[in-house]
Amino acid sequence: MAEQASAAHDYTMGYSEEFRRLLNRRSAETHAKHLLSYLKPGLRVLDFGCGPGTITVGLAKAVEPGEVHGVDMEESQIGLARSAAAAGGHANTTFHVGSVLELPFEDNSFDVAHCHAVLMHVPDTRAALAEVKRVLRPGGIVGSREMIVQSSFLEPSDEGTDNGWKMFSNLLAANGGHPRMGKELKNMFLEAGFSDIRASGSFDFFSTTEDIAFLHTFIIDWLFLPEVMAAAIKYGLATREQFDEARQSIDRWKSHPGACGAFAFGEVVAQKPQS
Ligand SMILES: C[S@@+](CC[C@H](N)C(=O)[O-])C[C@H]1O[C@@H](n2cnc3c(N)ncnc32)[C@H](O)[C@@H]1O
Repeated sequence: MAEQASAAHDYTMGYSEEFRRLLNRRSAETHAKHLLSYLKPGLRVLDFGCGPGTITVGLAKAVEPGEVHGVDMEESQIGLARSAAAAGGHANTTFHVGSVLELPFEDNSFDVAHCHAVLMHVPDTRAALAEVKRVLRPGGIVGSREMIVQSSFLEPSDEGTDNGWKMFSNLLAANGGHPRMGKELKNMFLEAGFSDIRASGSFDFFSTTEDIAFLHTFIIDWLFLPEVMAAAIKYGLATREQFDEARQSIDRWKSHPGACGAFAFGEVVAQKPQS
């Protein structure tokens, strides 16, 4: 059963059990690969928008005995992150409820900042990057990985599956989010005054029978949550009939022997200039 969101009402993904199952599949090794080679023991790391902390604990392992601070605006996620860190014995982690727009840290106090699938949800990306830059030390590194919704796919595709992606993209945009953030990262970081920017991209790819079953269940359970459908219908982004058609297409996709699917992501690693 889905939980009610208890923080900002316009955060598209919400905090349901259905979405948490997707986040539970993430780790630093798989989802922060672009940043891992920059992490060394002793560094102080910020993970903003850390969610349930499945990536954060891997960052903590990489910099031990350095400290990792996870920040998320949603208390329930911070509770989950604390539990994950305690279960893994990551005593070098501290978690805070707070916003990336007002980080509870001193200027120049982190060596590295990280976020995964967060900037795409923050309406004022410029303000977020300015705040991250404030807490990074000169020469410090920031890494981000964000979705490119229009390059994500279910294959074989049809109008119904394509409409499913469009509904998600429109809902994200209506909530002040950025469906194309993955390909805007390089320019966003450049404009925010970062240097030595390395941009790349990758997919979260679903192809095995188990992966297809997981992705199908996730899409059906999440996209068709009453609150998600209600929001899309309220904003005039989709009709009940379009939801029904998308559902039938996604069911057909799952049964196809050639089914595969992917979430597309852009990544960036950038530096705060020395002066
Ligand atoms: C899609 S989840 C990603 C969680 C985690 N980074 C991961 O990839 O597993 C996005 C998270 O960002 C958080 N978030 C969104 N806007 C935020 C803000 N302004 N300040 C802090 N956290 C924010 C949400 O509460 C949510 O937990």
